[in-house]
Amino acid sequence: MKKTPLFALLILLVCSCSEDDTNDTLTNIPDKEARLYAGGKTTIFANTSFSFDNPAPNLNETNLALHLAGDMQFEQAFVTAPSIVNPGLGAQFNNTSCISCHPKDGRAGFPMDINSRSGFFLRTSIPGTDPHGGPNPTPGFGGQLQNHAIYGKQPEVKFTITYQDLPVHFKDGTTVILKKPIYGITDSYIPMPTNAMFSPRIGPPVYGLGLLEAISEATLLKNEDILDVDEDEISGKANLVWDPVSKTNKIGRFGWKGGAPSVMVQSAGAYNGDMGITSPLFPNEADAGQSNGSPLEEKAPEITQEILDQIEIYCQTLAVPAARNLDDPKVIQGFQLFEDANCIACHIPKHITGIISGVPAISNQTIYPYTDLLLHDMGDDLADNRPEFLADGNEWQTRPLWGIGLTNLVNGHTNFLHDGRARNLEEAILWHSGEAKKSREYYTDLNKSEREAMLAFLNAI
Ligand code: HEC
Ligand code: HEC
Repeated sequence: MKKTPLFALLILLVCSCSEDDTNDTLTNIPDKEARLYAGGKTTIFANTSFSFDNPAPNLNETNLALHLAGDMQFEQAFVTAPSIVNPGLGAQFNNTSCISCHPKDGRAGFPMDINSRSGFFLRTSIPGTDPHGGPNPTPGFGGQLQNHAIYGKQPEVKFTITYQDLPVHFKDGTTVILKKPIYGITDSYIPMPTNAMFSPRIGPPVYGLGLLEAISEATLLKNEDILDVDEDEISGKANLVWDPVSKTNKIGRFGWKGGAPSVMVQSAGAYNGDMGITSPLFPNEADAGQSNGSPLEEKAPEITQEILDQIEIYCQTLAVPAARNLDDPKVIQGFQLFEDANCIACHIPKHITGIISGVPAISNQTIYPYTDLLLHDMGDDLADNRPEFLADGNEWQTRPLWGIGLTNLVNGHTNFLHDGRARNLEEAILWHSGEAKKSREYYTDLNKSEREAMLAFLNAI
């Protein structure tokens, strides 16, 4: 007689437990199989320190040959003219090869010494716009500040950096102190105009970019909510930028403010602005005022269209690493929290690509990049206060999150955001404000184990 109530209680307990389970705890990520193949058929299963540096496995023979030729170009280091190989560096430059700023096709770490050759630089402009609505170049300096120069020439500037502490308090009493970088310049070769604005940037990863290029304009525009009609405090605006190839305005997709319409324009711009290499697309030196002594200068571009075509397809067709550990209960919990925190309002998980002519490998793919490629106000602490086409001084483009958990394995660091200021994934979330303030607060309200789950999810996609 004594045992019966206990038994009954036990049954009651078990029942209520399993009821709770079905209500609250997800046992599976619903579209797990599809999420695993983050880059559709371009996905590669290579969980190594070279996870970002693989050709898409579905490339046809012609495109694979172009990709491999582009791979070589990506690694070429340019030197001072005259030279038999790769002449034409500078006169001013930030670094000497693509790979030096996109190590192993991944992201550059924040430099220990801000003036070492690294993946970091400052863009610049003065108020107003250029004839195409883009940034108004700073007289004597252009659109980008080069802190290195070839022998006998002067760098445009040296960069300076100081930090301000920004404490963030969690609901459970934990405090994290963010370090807000404050940039400046010194040693400029001529006086810097007093109204010059600066925007810090760091080299992002370059895999999966053709897939992002292949998402249709209509899809991106459908996700815009410029006037926040749905009143979720999240707007989202496509950047509209000048495309020197088609000589029309196109949606900006690349760069931290979506300032470039295509992989081609971004890459030719990098040759020009980052290394001082002219091309058919950008035939004039970026560093007006100081010649680099190249015999080719003003006669023919320093690299050919053929090289641009190779580098374009290379960056378009680097394989996307597969997601990992999607069956891990922590990751499944993190998936749910990522949804509940409304991270998905901007980091839209899934897209279907349209068609890029000549590159079937990246066309018609179901992909999980976790971005809307739109601009969002991210608050004053993240602001660069420098407009770029339609992006204002507070706006940044939502970054793709695919493969982000492999950053440490590939690049040996966890520096995130547009200038690499976040020292880990948690800090990247804590810097979110403006339109993403509610999402950040959702995160700082979580307990430790839930926060770990959210990070486990980020590390798994
Ligand atoms: C000095 C460092 C540096 C060098 C050299 C450099 N990059 Fe970059 N790269 C960057 C930075 C910084 C950005 C972000 C630019 C921005 O926000 O406007 C970037 C962005 C890109 C992007 C867009 C990625 C995205 O997701 O938006 C591509 C593509 C790219 N670079 C390709 C190249 C190629 C190709 C080369 C060589 C021709 C090259 N880069 C050389 C620093 C560099
Ligand atoms: C309002 C739009 C928005 C929301 C909501 C949002 N993000 Fe972001 N996220 C961005 C933008 C824009 C950036 C780039 C900011 C920058 O570089 O300064 C970014 C960057 C990131 C990065 C760093 C990416 C990189 O390549 O360095 C991570 C990680 C990230 N977000 C995670 C999250 C998580 C987790 C949530 C939910 C808690 C979230 N985001 C909510 C817009 C958003």
